This record gives sequence, structure tokens and C-alpha cells, in this order.
Amino acid sequence: MKTKSVRVFLIVHLLLAAAGLNLFAASAASPRERRLLDSGWKFHLGNDWGIAQNLAKAGSGSGPASLWFGDASWRTVNLPHDWAVELPFDETADGAHGFKALGQGFPSNSVAWYRRTFELPKADAGKRLWLEFDGVFRDCDVFVNGWFMDHHDSGYGGFRCDITDVADCGGKNVVAVKVNASEFEGWFYEGAGIYRHVWLVKTAPLHVAEWGIFVTTEVKEKSADVTANVTVNNEGTDTAEFTIDQNILDATGRQIAHTGFKTLRLWAGETGHYSSTLTVLNPKLWSPESPTMYKLVTSIRLGNTDDTVVDRQETEFGIRTVGFDKDKGFLLNGQPYKIKGTCNHQDHAGVGAALPDALQYFRVQKLKEMGCNAYRTSHNPPTPELLEACDRLGLLVLDENRLVGSDPLHLKWFEEFIRRDRNHPSVFAWSLGNEEWNAQGTAEGQTVIRTMQNLARWLDPTRLCTVNVNGSYGETGFFAVIDVKGFSYNIGSMDAYHTNHPNANILGTETASTVTTRGIYTNDTAKGYVAAYDIITTNQSKDFPNPVTWGETAEGWWSFYNARPWSSGGFAWTGFDYRGEPTPYAWPCINSHFGILDLCGFRKDNAWYYQAWWTDQPVLHLLPHWNWPGKEGQNIDVWCYSNCKEVELFLNGQSLGRKTMKKDSHLEWQASYAPGTLSAKGYLDGKEVAETKVETTGAPAAIQLTPDRSIINADGEDVSVFTVAVTDAQGRVVPVAADLIHFELSGPGKILGVGNGDPSCHEPDVYLPVWTNYSVAVNDGWRWEKTTQPWNASLPEFAASFDDSTWAPADVQSVTNQLGNNEHGVFRTHLKVTETELAADAVELCFGALNGTGKIYVNGQKAGETHDSGVVSAVDVKHLLHPGDNSVSVLVENYSSSGGIIKGVTLRMRDKPVLPEWKRSVFNGLAQIIVQSTKEPGAIKLTASADGLSPATVSVSSQPCTARLAAP
Ligand code: GAL
Repeated sequence: MKTKSVRVFLIVHLLLAAAGLNLFAASAASPRERRLLDSGWKFHLGNDWGIAQNLAKAGSGSGPASLWFGDASWRTVNLPHDWAVELPFDETADGAHGFKALGQGFPSNSVAWYRRTFELPKADAGKRLWLEFDGVFRDCDVFVNGWFMDHHDSGYGGFRCDITDVADCGGKNVVAVKVNASEFEGWFYEGAGIYRHVWLVKTAPLHVAEWGIFVTTEVKEKSADVTANVTVNNEGTDTAEFTIDQNILDATGRQIAHTGFKTLRLWAGETGHYSSTLTVLNPKLWSPESPTMYKLVTSIRLGNTDDTVVDRQETEFGIRTVGFDKDKGFLLNGQPYKIKGTCNHQDHAGVGAALPDALQYFRVQKLKEMGCNAYRTSHNPPTPELLEACDRLGLLVLDENRLVGSDPLHLKWFEEFIRRDRNHPSVFAWSLGNEEWNAQGTAEGQTVIRTMQNLARWLDPTRLCTVNVNGSYGETGFFAVIDVKGFSYNIGSMDAYHTNHPNANILGTETASTVTTRGIYTNDTAKGYVAAYDIITTNQSKDFPNPVTWGETAEGWWSFYNARPWSSGGFAWTGFDYRGEPTPYAWPCINSHFGILDLCGFRKDNAWYYQAWWTDQPVLHLLPHWNWPGKEGQNIDVWCYSNCKEVELFLNGQSLGRKTMKKDSHLEWQASYAPGTLSAKGYLDGKEVAETKVETTGAPAAIQLTPDRSIINADGEDVSVFTVAVTDAQGRVVPVAADLIHFELSGPGKILGVGNGDPSCHEPDVYLPVWTNYSVAVNDGWRWEKTTQPWNASLPEFAASFDDSTWAPADVQSVTNQLGNNEHGVFRTHLKVTETELAADAVELCFGALNGTGKIYVNGQKAGETHDSGVVSAVDVKHLLHPGDNSVSVLVENYSSSGGIIKGVTLRMRDKPVLPEWKRSVFNGLAQIIVQSTKEPGAIKLTASADGLSPATVSVSSQPCTARLAAP
């Protein structure tokens, strides 16, 4: 493809826009469609079909890769989907990945197939058609209509398959994806499967290229220049003359800037790069506190004055400046801005790595509530909707590449990652990698990182690069060349580094690794719990040795970074717990303890430490809980997190002393335990501004259900996240409760998953329906005869009433084929089917081996085809059968030395599923259940019950909405 670069200076119609004259309706229709392809995938765990790609002949993938493969008995799933979370725990499995029975040791659990059939209307002929995969974990092969389309290794990059050439417009199309999660990429739970969205994209031949819009902004005194770079592909067969015009809409949808037309031309097959600058007056600058978004609307019109819009694309962006200063640290909109960040993996209770979009927003919100202003996407490019949530709700993002490398493949992935993410205002810097022990201190490592950084600068001159380095801070290696020095732990080396490198920009790209378990106050090595006090690493004298020798406490790292104006702040490891890395324990502990929030997003006590020093509102929090039967009269360590200047503690109304809070610190008392109320008052400048208490509760008596949102969208995607709490008779959460809760749901919703934040809990997060499969043999009564018309789709022999009594009997169980070289034949039998069999969920006719091309007719109607000689082939026949006698005819076209039906024929039934009973124990009083809407509006009713507790029932309203365009 030829390319050309044209800088087009277009007149900015600011005045027209200001006068409200919108000459070019932003809503003009364009052929571009982006349809969600998430619902109704067929899923099969296991692979009986080898590589499935026919390396000898094109377009004829075998097994599930074949267009004709019968998948009626496969389970139906919606994306995003993670099959790892459905697997059992196994002590012999990889602990870093959460002890799920996945990986090299579990071959039958580690490869799976997904298939989705979709229709394309005739009108799509002539358009460009793509499938966009936002991420598949991992190592996947994609087939469309039997054609091999793409192989993608990494589970963290998006990729796109152009299906234009092989698509059937006006017919049925099948995409099949083989996913191989036998190998891991990281050292943490990563999920398995198509765990991000898939899209079907259609455009005109002349269209904006993939990731073809790049918006940069330059903030001036009272305005901002917005430079809109556009890459256009002409994939048509003729030269295209066209114009580009662009609008900027503000957050209310009002047009505030517009470019005029410029006539452009691209030869067939040519790519063009264009750029225009628009001015926004008095822009509202984006920041976590005020995340104002704008929208650029780019329209391509055919011809000179023709108003035929052939492509139209909307690009969200923000206006802000980011930078680093050697003395002031990170700068946002020109002002020093301390990064109060957390690192996170994409992993949540109940759903694993497959987060519905609403859960991304839920998690971002949880981080913001404790004052967090930044998110590091450790250690990989994130799901796009995470960035969208950070843009819209306001969190800065340190966007991280997966693997350091300057080989062509890693540079390609790195480039795609930057192109994909560079319009997000939340992204403030690129992280090129994480703790590359073998490279971070070497000369070669230095060269590799420089190559990557140069590429990043070329693709995005607006942001700097960093890399997370643990311990190689010498004159050779990553630190010698990287824009921003990213410290991983090692705060002990930072002052000396700063003194010796006074011009360096310094960021704590990873810090903390504080281990705590929610609601636990003594280490329990048998259960795998770590006390939730924020204990100083070196303080080994208490009963709470902090086993993470490389990390720091919350207070340790934050007070250090906050005291140094030249430090940009940092990212605590981690915001949320995640599966795997059960440090400091091993089995039976299966998930990490690093989170400030647990796997459900419930707060551990440290969340209040951060909230105290990361927000301005008064915070006053006491720990531990006050249920210590048997410890009467014993001293208990009482801690207080607060930003009040002074705090006074009371036990049952008696003062235990008023203490003065040091900045970025906490307070401690010892209290002799007596049941009752432990309370505190917080003072600012002598004035009481906050009060809190923890009470000794009664025994568990009731269940409380609280949805995070009581109105959700009936779009089949939205979720409500319920907190399940066990309370005493007075409605107080019992902090030691462990009751097993049963759930029932009615109405237009479904349960996605359950969790409780217990790092050692082996209860399932997902309960699957159970199907029973059974088969009956269909080996009797077969007769056959040769035919000379194998192409004839309406042979009389297919008819139900055809008399085949004179034909020769056929032994379909034999291993010897009936047909000789280039002989074709029709095979027939009759089949008795009962009502019970027909009531099954799926009924398939299965051929042990059908050698040749098989065209299968049931009662005279065509059921399907099989083109796979070597493997068992199945054809969905449920819709064609009736109770009683049915005829089956199979036309076998055979163009090789032998052909026919051998190795037996069966009718395979998959019974209606037995629906699962959902349950989960609360851990220290709390559990979580995630409920998703269907596309039907109505009330979704959830009931929770448990032995000896009053049940709870709560309804969420699923409201009609305009769902996004979905593939049929
Ligand atoms: C770091 C690493 C993280 C995590 C953490 C645990 O070295 O970058 O991925 O493993 O240690 O403390």
C-alpha cells in the first residue's frame, strides 16, 4: 500500500459555531457500524480436533473450524467469559495463578473452543468487514467460514481480522476461535478465554483506518488548540475524491468548533494522513477531580460538495497537560500533582478476568472513594473499558505494556497498544515494562528500552515513558535512558539516587506490597490470613511479622513519598486483591493479600489510612472489631486512622486518652477488652469534627442485601453488585460471621458470580448448570445405492416416503467404506424418536466417520453438511424430527479412493440442564453477588437465606434502554 502525508490546514469556523450554526449535521448517517458480538457464543472445553487448520487446502478448517460443524450440544455463553474461574482449585496447580486446574498439568482444561454464527445482510456486500477482538487469553486461532484468519499469542492485545473476502453477505457466517491457555504470560491469575468484547465492524471501502484518529491538545491562556490527525484508507477499487470535516462537541453535545471542507484524493489501495487544528475557547481542563470530556466527530464525504457521508467516527478526548519536573514531580495542568495510585490486575470475585463494563466502573469508583487518583495497569495493556471508566470518572492511568522487547513482534504489539490508547486523557505516561531482572541493568537492556521509548515518542510526542525497575539503579541499564525513573520498592535507594541525579524525574511505579486480610487481626498460618494492622516491616517484635521483606507498609511508603516534593508520588501494590500470589502463604491460600480492598472491593482497614491522607474530608476509623469473647481483661491493640489533628478514644464511655496525630501517620492505644462500645472523637483545631464507634455485636440473626445500584439497564450487560451482610438482631454487621447463604433469583436477570474476599476460600465463584448427555445407536436399517448426481440438491431419494427396500443393506458400523474411487451414494434409514428424546435441549445426529462430503436430510429437509472425514461429525436435527418414525438420507460425495459412512451413527441428546443452586459463605460478615440484566426490562428479585437467619429479599429495577448495536 502506498501512503501519503498531507498537512491540511482547514479553516476553523469558530464564529459560526459560537453562533450555533451547525452547517454539517453531526448525526449524518454513515455506513460504519460497530456491533457488539458478545451474546450467544457456543463454548466447548477441550479440543478433540488438533490444530483444526487444514495446512494442505484453504478454507477447509476441520472440526469446530469448519463452517458445517454441529455445535448444538455446546454450552451457550455470553462474553466477556473466563473459563478459568469456573474450574476447581487443585493443590497441584500453579499457586501464582491461583491454584486453578489450568495450565500444562491440566491439558483437558486448558484448550477450549468458541463458535458464533452470525448473519450478514446482502446490503453488506461491497463493505469492508472486520471482527475486532479486544483480548483473548491466550494463544488463539480464529477461523471464519472455515478459513483461517489469524493467530494471536498474547492475551493482552486487541487484534482485528478482516473478513471481507470470506464473508457471506446475505447468508450465515461462522466464527470459530480456538483458545489455548496452557501457558501463562504473567505470574498472577490471568483467566482463560474470550474475556473481553468482540465486535463486528463494517465500513465503506473509503474509511478511517483502525486507531486512525489521534487527537492532541495544546492548552493556551484562554483556549486550547486541538490537533486532529486522521488516517484514511481507500480499500476500494477506484480513486476516491472526498472531503474531511471535523466537529468538536462539548460534554453536553453542543458543537463548539468545526473545520471546513478540504477536497482530497486517494488512489485505490492508498492510505492518507491528514491533520487539522481546531480551537476550543475557555476549555474545561480534564483532571481526576473534574474529568471533562469532549468529542471529536470526523466525517468523510464523497466528492466535492456531495453530502454523502461515507464514514463518520466519534473520538472522545480530554484537554489537559501532563509533565514531570525534577523538583516538583508530576505536573497536571501545570501544577504539582502527587500520584496517589494503586497497581491492579483485572480480576474480580465471581467473574475472574471477564469483567462486565459496569464492574470496571464499580472498581474505579471504589478506588476513588478512598482518594486514589491513579491506576497502574500492571502488567499489561488493559481492557479498553477500564480506560473509558478512568476517563469518565477521573483516574490517571499509568498504561503498561506487557513485555519489554525490540524484536518486530513485540514492537508491533507495543505500537498497537499506544495507537489504541493514546486518545485517553486519563493516560498520563507509558510504562514500558515491569521488573525485567535480566535486562534492567544491562547495556543490551538499555538499548532495547531506548528503541521502545523512541517508538513511543514517535507515536505519541505528548507523554513520557517510564519502566518499573527494582534495584538496578546504576549508570547502565534502563535508568540511564528512561524519561521517568520508575522505582519498584527500594525506597531506601531513592534519596541517594536523587542526590546523584538531581535532574531525574522520579515516580514510585510500584510500592507497598503490604499484606493484610480483611477483618483479621492475628496472623493465622494454618488458614492463610495476615493481620490487618499496617505493621512496619522492621518491627518484628510484635506478633505480626510482616513477611514481605521487599515491601513497605501503607504508612511507610506514603509518608516517605509525600515528604519529598521531587517525588511524583507512587502506586501501591495493589488496590484490589487478586487470585494467585498468595504471599506470604501457599495452599490452601489461593489469592493475594496485597489489596487495600479485597477481591470483592470490600475495604480492609488500610483503605481508611489512605482515605485519611488522600482526601480532605474528615476521616475517623478504628480497628479492630470489638467481638473478642474470651479475651476479657486482655490488652488489645487499638489503632485509629484519621486526618483529624487530635483523637480521643473511649471504651464504654471512659476516655482512654486524647492523642495528637502526626501527618501521614496513625494513632495507637492499648485497651483492656470488655465487651461494649469502643468509640472515638476527632478534633480539628480543638473542634469536634468526627465521631465513630465499633460495638460488640450480638449473634448472627439476619441477612442484609444491598445492591450498589437499584436501577440498571435492561441491555443484557449491566450489573448490580450486591453486598450480602450478616447482622445481629440490631442490624449491626457481625464481623466474625461465616454463615452459608443461599441465593434465589427471579425476574429478567441472572447471577454472574459470587465471592467473599476470603483468600483461602475454595467455594466456587460460579455455579454452572449440569447437562446430561446420552446417545442411542442409529446403526440399523441402513440401505444404500450409488448415485451419479451428487450435485443434485433435490434428489427424490431424500424424500421421507421414498421406497429404498430394493437397495443394498449398509453396515455403517464397519471400518470398511462402501464407496470406491470417485463413487457417490445415497444412504438411508428410518429412525424412531420418542417425545422424551425430543424434549432434550439439543438433539444431534453424529457420524463416527463420514468419508467424503455428507449432505444430511431428515424427513426430506436438509439438516446440514459435513466435510470432515477424519473426525466425528454432528448435525443439529432437533427442529426436523417428530415423535415416531423419521427418515434419514445422506448423500455422500466421494472424490477419493474410498468413501461412505462407517464407525457407527448415533442420535445424541443433551438433556435440559439441572439449574444450579447458588450459595456462598460470608467471610467476616460479608459476601458479594453479581447480578446481570437480560434484555427484558422488569424487576429482578434476589432472595438470600441461611439456616437460623431472617432472609432478605431485594429487587433491582432493570429499565428499558437503548442497548448498543449488537450483531444478530
Ligand atoms: C513485584 C511484582 C508484582 C508482584 C509484587 C508482589 O515485584 O512487580 O507483580 O509480584 O512484586 O509483591
